[in-house]
Amino acid sequence: LSRKLSSSACINQSIKNVVVIGGGLMGSGIAQVAAQSGQNVTIVDLDRKVVEKAQNAINTSLQRVAKKLFKDDLAKADKFLTNSMSRLMLSTNPEEAVGQSDLVVEAIVEKLRIKQNLFKTLDTVAPTHTIFASNTSSLPIGEIAEATQRKDRFVGLHFFNPVPVMKLLEVIRIPETSDDTYNRVMDWGKSVGKQTVTCKDTPGFIVNRLLVPYMMESVRLLERGDATARDIDTAMKLGAGYPMGPFELLDYVGLDTSKFIIEGWAEKFPENPLFKPVPTLNRLVEEGKLGMKTGEGFYKYQKK
Ligand code: NAI
Repeated sequence: LSRKLSSSACINQSIKNVVVIGGGLMGSGIAQVAAQSGQNVTIVDLDRKVVEKAQNAINTSLQRVAKKLFKDDLAKADKFLTNSMSRLMLSTNPEEAVGQSDLVVEAIVEKLRIKQNLFKTLDTVAPTHTIFASNTSSLPIGEIAEATQRKDRFVGLHFFNPVPVMKLLEVIRIPETSDDTYNRVMDWGKSVGKQTVTCKDTPGFIVNRLLVPYMMESVRLLERGDATARDIDTAMKLGAGYPMGPFELLDYVGLDTSKFIIEGWAEKFPENPLFKPVPTLNRLVEEGKLGMKTGEGFYKYQKK
């Protein structure tokens, strides 16, 4: 009986140890919000330099958070920073890192095969109770989970950039996701300060399924010569109350990323007119104009 009790206690335990695989833009943000919420976090990437860069970025970002939270109390701000950073560990070995994990969040390159290979390996070494999650924006969660024997403990956890600022977390359930897994990740999402919404495993989930076709339709409006990019942006900000116009958003997200998403959907759903190719987007990407990150997209930016 005692063994039975301890194993069920283990399954129901709350998530305390998180492993984030991929220390890029999203991975470092996810690791930060978990560490600042009191969890132990390990960031894993292929290269030591990348994880060290992630650690520095988190440190800088947390200083800002600390200043905001404890304006006048330098000692408290300092303690918050030190405590949060002390919960952050770095690794270049995913198999070793997941040994003590309750939750693994994957935020590596957007390639199905690579994600599947990673989870296949981790499935054999992670504890039985560990939940696996992917932060993918455009790949089906079910296809990634296919590589594992733990589909009941598999979800999508889709964060938004910049993770420490954006309040939303989309929680994606595949048909096999158990209620226990779902409840635990919903609680976890709240514990890292996010408002959670639930969606089935459908292309683009909620936000991107609406946002990407909207951005593409904006480019089509521009291509027809109906209005300028500047005026379309102004119209959507002042008329629809959006914080950014569609072209500002495209430049922010990256034109290559948007093209990649729409092409993936077009391939899967060739009959859907919302996913049809957009020539201007393809041309700008060909010219290397990828948005803010290259200094030019629909608009020009001052290089930092
Ligand atoms: P990124 O390129 O900034 O970071 C990816 C990191 O993964 C890199 O540091 C790379 O070295 C590492 N990596 C690649 N293969 C690896 C492996 N096998 N093991 C360990 N590390 C590996 O990419 P970003 O933007 O952070 O995106 C990561 C994921 O998050 C993608 O699946 C993307 O679709 C998703 N996502 C991206 C958003 C965005 O706004 N950039 C928003 C929401 C989700």
